[in-house]
Amino acid sequence: MVDQAERLREIFQESQFHKAPRRRGLSRIIVVASGKGGVGKTNLVVNLAVVMGQWGQKTIILDTDLGLANVDILMDLKPSFSLVDVIRGYKDLSEVVLRGPFNVEVVPGGSGLSEIVSLDNHQREQLISRLSYLEEKGDILLIDCSAGLSRTVLSFIAAADELIMVTIPEPTAITDVYSIIKVVNNYRLHSTVNLVVNMMRSAKEGENVFKRIDKVCQNFLDITINFLGGIEYDQHVHKAVLSCSPYVLQFPRSRAAQCTRHIARRLLFEEEAASGVNKKEGGFLNRLIQLWGS
Ligand SMILES: Nc1ncnc2c1ncn2[C@@H]1O[C@H](COP(=O)(O)OP(=O)(O)O)[C@@H](O)[C@H]1O
Ligand SMILES: [Mg+2]
Repeated sequence: MVDQAERLREIFQESQFHKAPRRRGLSRIIVVASGKGGVGKTNLVVNLAVVMGQWGQKTIILDTDLGLANVDILMDLKPSFSLVDVIRGYKDLSEVVLRGPFNVEVVPGGSGLSEIVSLDNHQREQLISRLSYLEEKGDILLIDCSAGLSRTVLSFIAAADELIMVTIPEPTAITDVYSIIKVVNNYRLHSTVNLVVNMMRSAKEGENVFKRIDKVCQNFLDITINFLGGIEYDQHVHKAVLSCSPYVLQFPRSRAAQCTRHIARRLLFEEEAASGVNKKEGGFLNRLIQLWGS
């Protein structure tokens, strides 16, 4: 396995991260990551976005995961183009954005996203102005990542203002989540990590998973774990996936939908400090694109 710290070092060496021009975005930029695949990140992102849309938030999803069950599939959308086409200058963002229920907009990342590594200054500026819609027009930008610690995932984690880590109660998933939290801590990317425990069998089990992670972090790291909540294991999720419809719409009374609304409520209405909202200087896109630069 490639040394994770080595990768991060690479990112920061290659970027002029700290020299980014100062600029303040308007939206909350929340990145959703996990150690392991198949823990329910994409379902969480889609359903959180729809709930927030129902509650009047202008929500945009940036889909950077190239797994099988992509955001567009879960929302029954048909993308023709992706962010990669925008970055390459072939398309405007407006031609790429898809519209889902309750005003939720989806920007498909596209399969070449991880190859975009060496942008010159001119390309960077062009890209920032082409993408500024993402951080200026929405109230919330939710970024769905692929699992694990690729360079692309790390750049999204580093550039976002808030981080949600998703895990399931399995020991391997918990270990994987911890290894990412460790990197986030070591590089001071975030001072708070928000945790969601998916597919829990009971609220107690979710709480126990949180306590386990929290305890190791308290013992060995200098980072706060904020437990956003758990989502119960619920067959309705699977049924909704099969019919390409978010479970909060198809089965609004299901346990999974109730748990998801609880998490959305915590994110939207709780004290900002609790979830570690920490607007970084320089604007999200500037940071991201600096991280992608050569
Ligand atoms: N709370 C849940 N209860 C039951 N099944 C779930 C739950 N959350 C997710 N799943 C199942 O797990 C599968 C993977 O979810 P997905 O959101 O695609 O994970 P990831 O994006 O982390 O790879 C889904 O197709 C769904 O069937
Ligand atoms: Mg996914």
